[in-house]
Amino acid sequence: KRALSTSSLGSKITLEDELKSTNVRAKELARQGSVHGQVVLARLQSSGRGRLQRPWDSPRGGLWMSVVLCPNLSLADASKLTLAASVAIVDALEELFSLRIGIKWPNDLVFNGLKIAGILGEVVGEWNTVQTIILGMGINVNFSREQLSPLLNATTLFEILGYEVDLNILAAGILKHLEKQVLSLEKRAFEELRENWSDRATGLGEEVRILRGEQVIQGIFKGITIDGALLLETNDGEKSFSAGEVQLRSK
Ligand code: BTN
Repeated sequence: KRALSTSSLGSKITLEDELKSTNVRAKELARQGSVHGQVVLARLQSSGRGRLQRPWDSPRGGLWMSVVLCPNLSLADASKLTLAASVAIVDALEELFSLRIGIKWPNDLVFNGLKIAGILGEVVGEWNTVQTIILGMGINVNFSREQLSPLLNATTLFEILGYEVDLNILAAGILKHLEKQVLSLEKRAFEELRENWSDRATGLGEEVRILRGEQVIQGIFKGITIDGALLLETNDGEKSFSAGEVQLRSK
C-alpha cells in the first residue's frame, strides 16, 4: 500500500495467501457491493483461470491480481479495458525494469515469443445492467519457467532479468498505469488507446494464421479496430475478428 501512487485503484486491497482464483473472489466481492478500484491479490492460486476456459498455472512468486472496476463506460466500451490493461502492464515493466515486452493480440504479453503475462476480463451483473468489470492480471514473476507446464511457451520475469523483483512495487506500478488508462478511456480517448496498443503490438504487418473452430484463416495482420477486433487482410479483402470468436495461432 505504501508503494501506491494512485487515487482510486487500490483504495481497498485484499491479500490472501491462497485463493482458488482472485477473479472468482473479486466477483463475489463485487456482488456484495465492492468499491471501484478494489484489488484482490493472492500469493498462490489453486485453480487460476485463463481465457477460453483454460487453467492458469499460478505458483508462488507470481503476481496474481484482480481489480474491480465500475468505470463510467458502456458495456460495449468496457471490453476496451483489457486492451488498456495490456498497455498498462507493458508500460509498468518498461518503467520499472527498462524491459520492453510486446502485446500479442488480444492480450497476451510476450517476450521473445514467450508468454509472460495474461489478462482475463469478466463482466459482473445481469445482461442489461452491467456496471462492474473484473480485470484479472497474471504475471509470471519470481519463479523459474520449469514451474510452468512446458507446453505453455511461457517465461517469467526472473528468467529474463536474472533476479527477483518486489511484487508490491510491481503491483503498484501496474495500478498506476492502469488508473491512467482507465481515466483516459472514461474521457473516450479510444483512438489514443488504439495507437498506444498498436505501438506495443507484435506481428503488425506480418502474415498470421488464426483459428476459427476448425478453420484456419491466413492473412496480413493490419492492426485492431477501435473495439479491439483483429484486422486481417485476407485474399477476400479486409476482415475483422473478435477475440471471443478466433484464436491467433503462433507459427
Ligand atoms: C490468459 O492469458 O489466458 C489470461 C490469464 C489471466 C490470469 C489471471 S491471474 C489473476 C486472475 N485470476 C484468475 O483466475 N485469472 C486471472
